Amino acid sequence: MSEESKVAIGLRGIKVANSTISTVHKDGTGLYYRGYTIEDLAEKSSFEEVAYMLIYGHLPNKDEYKNWVQKLKEGRKIPQDVKNVLAQLPKDANPMAVLQVGVSALGIMEPEEKFQGKEISARLIGALPTILGYWYHTSRGQPVPESEEETIAGYTLHMLTGKKPDPLETQMLNVSLILYAEHGFNASTFTARVVASTLADYYSSITAAIGALSGPLHGGANEKAIRMLLTFNDPEDAKNKIMEMLAQKEKVMGFGHGVYKIADPRHAIIMQWAEKLAQLKQREDLLELAKTVITVMKEEKNLFPNVDFITGVVYYLAGIDIPLYTPIFVIGRSSGWSAHIFEQREDNKLIRPRANYVGPEYQEYIPIDQR
Ligand code: COA
Repeated sequence: MSEESKVAIGLRGIKVANSTISTVHKDGTGLYYRGYTIEDLAEKSSFEEVAYMLIYGHLPNKDEYKNWVQKLKEGRKIPQDVKNVLAQLPKDANPMAVLQVGVSALGIMEPEEKFQGKEISARLIGALPTILGYWYHTSRGQPVPESEEETIAGYTLHMLTGKKPDPLETQMLNVSLILYAEHGFNASTFTARVVASTLADYYSSITAAIGALSGPLHGGANEKAIRMLLTFNDPEDAKNKIMEMLAQKEKVMGFGHGVYKIADPRHAIIMQWAEKLAQLKQREDLLELAKTVITVMKEEKNLFPNVDFITGVVYYLAGIDIPLYTPIFVIGRSSGWSAHIFEQREDNKLIRPRANYVGPEYQEYIPIDQR
């Protein structure tokens, strides 16, 4: 075999480490976090519990849960010095960059050594909605909401919209955070592990992962998908515009997947919440447009919607500003990233692949005044 034919472009299908955190199993049709199906978790659990289970490896007992929730709540308070940094950032800043700045500032004020074992993850997960909400409202000259919401989902909604959330919206966000929590060696998680493998600190892994998630081929798809839907006038218009995009070989955001080949199991779950919310908000028309796109993509390309397609719709229906959708993905996925950082550390080996060099063998150096 030639050197070149051994190249695994995009690392597709390459297994680079053992992991006990999640799997889509061999047939790639389901999603299991530490053996629990996402259907069960979305129906019966809470994001707080799922985050604990991913990070600690087991479902918490009552005391463990109480202590964890308490730590997450304490994590909501961020130091004044971090607020001062956030207050400098303009309102049109990329919110993913804002999160990177906020997490870095938190890491400077509260270095990892301050924390016992995995407790740093509760600090971070708790702080993320506050970092985002603090910057969002301060940069717009609005008062930062004060929220006593019990759950992370409710607190996040309150912080971002400034309104006390409806219970249905809170449940929807809870489910979406569970669905976003973990997904194996996706680009951002792998990034977190690469950084962890250098023995850099926890915050460095998280800020790097946020950067990876910001791209439209990864986390950015939920925002792009809803923006596209909002440009359609009616189902006929949606069909025509999608056909046009496909003819131009444009990618339709929120469709296809690097691992799933038949369906993304998270889609059916979030779709149930979209149905409920569309009814509550009397926006069945928006869902109708989304369903039209799903039909056209199936018929024309045999492609299925991934989790991001409808997540954009439910966040929109809950009244959240579109640029905040990928940052909400960060809040969910920060639990999976944390689990992977700790797993990487347990049996660490520096991640250092090789490139298949295809450049020139030798070139004579020519001084600049002779070029
Ligand atoms: N819209 C239109 N065509 C798509 C498509 C999409 N969303 N996703 C894949 N395709 C087509 C590609 O154009 C390609 O067609 P071709 O063989 O005629 O060139 C074929 O399907 C394979 O695409 P490829 O990008 O190689 O598949 P992949 O498995 O590497 O990519 C994604 C997976 C997620 C990167 C890809 O589906 C994509 O870009 N989706 C949109 C972004 C998105 O929703 N990301 C969130 C993922 S959870």
